[in-house]
Amino acid sequence: LISDILDLSKIESGTVSVDAEEIYFQNLVDRVARPFQHEAENRSLDFGVVLDPTLGRSLVTDSKRLQQVLKNLLSNAFKFTENGGVRLEVVAADSGWSQGHPVLSQAPMVVAFRVSDTGIGIPLEKQRIIFEAFQQADASTSRRYGGTGLGLAISRELATLLGGEIHLRSVPGEGSSFTLYLPLAYSGAVTARPQNQMARPERPGIQLQRPPAVERVPDDRDTIEDGDDVLMIVEDDTHYARIVANLAKEQGLKVLVAHTGGEALEMAKNFRPTAISLDVFLPDMLGWTVLSRLKQDPQLRHIPVQMLTLDEDRQHGLARGAFDFISKPTEANDLSGAINRVMEYSKPRKRRLLVVEDDPAERLSIRELIH
Ligand SMILES: Nc1ncnc2c1ncn2[C@@H]1O[C@H](COP(=O)(O)OP(=O)(O)OP(=O)(O)O)[C@@H](O)[C@H]1O
Ligand SMILES: [Mg+2]
Repeated sequence: LISDILDLSKIESGTVSVDAEEIYFQNLVDRVARPFQHEAENRSLDFGVVLDPTLGRSLVTDSKRLQQVLKNLLSNAFKFTENGGVRLEVVAADSGWSQGHPVLSQAPMVVAFRVSDTGIGIPLEKQRIIFEAFQQADASTSRRYGGTGLGLAISRELATLLGGEIHLRSVPGEGSSFTLYLPLAYSGAVTARPQNQMARPERPGIQLQRPPAVERVPDDRDTIEDGDDVLMIVEDDTHYARIVANLAKEQGLKVLVAHTGGEALEMAKNFRPTAISLDVFLPDMLGWTVLSRLKQDPQLRHIPVQMLTLDEDRQHGLARGAFDFISKPTEANDLSGAINRVMEYSKPRKRRLLVVEDDPAERLSIRELIH
């Protein structure tokens, strides 16, 4: 446990370096699959390994980290599968990752590592949460299957570190399939952030770029203080933005209004709002892009985001880490309810972790890490 926690906190803090080297697909696949072959035989499960012949012979990435992700995915697949089997496929991919992904959409070639199983599956509403640290699909998981819920959190961070991402499809009772997309040649992590972001940045309220010639909805950017509850509204329709802003103010919140995705990302960094309400159709980029950038930034990804849109594609938002999803235009009542929900969700919740560890030194370091 301690090494997993250490690993996760190191990756999240950006202190892990990537050792990119050339790796032969065949060697990689042999190495990660071998330990599971015995398990498959012992438990009478099928275990298929497929290597796409149209792929070249090798890729360039961090071998140790890639193996770590694949082992995590394979060990989950075996753990949660009673009958049927598990499959590892390595194929050339030309789609499947998030639209506008900053690395994958620029990569000349993308490899998909897919681990599928015929196991218990994961309910839709749990598909997002299981990628968070210490989260399992339900309370009975650790009793029945053991584990602490760190494998996927680490895997997700590693995928980002290697310039890729993990997608999940699952049907309860039928099975799951986790796909890791990586560029064929490592070219940097998904977000190249400066390392010294631990300190809260100043709030340069005046340096924000305001696009000219757009009517702006007045907001509270010049009067926000520490401790204020702040809702950031990302909306290019000024009429609608004004309605939401007024409702939020009636509920005692301060508001920030961004009219473009670029402005929203900039303001999120500078002001760290308590919650965000995000429209899908923005002049400069899709709300989905804003959402994934927010979720890829360790400083911002805890902020609950409510997608506010005419678009009915609910699953799309939830899979990308949106907290909630409402369709517009809605009644003023529904809207205040929605604002309440997202603000309520952002309140600090007590999370408890029982640490069972007999070594006092390790106990202490776990406490310090998690605190
Ligand atoms: N292939 C799968 N089939 C069904 N459920 C899965 C699968 N993979 C993950 N899950 C669900 O996601 C949860 C989180 O997975 P994760 O790997 O992070 O933790 P864990 O396996 O429970 O513990 P750890 O990996 O720390 O030993 C699991 O507890 C399980 O509920
Ligand atoms: Mg696991």
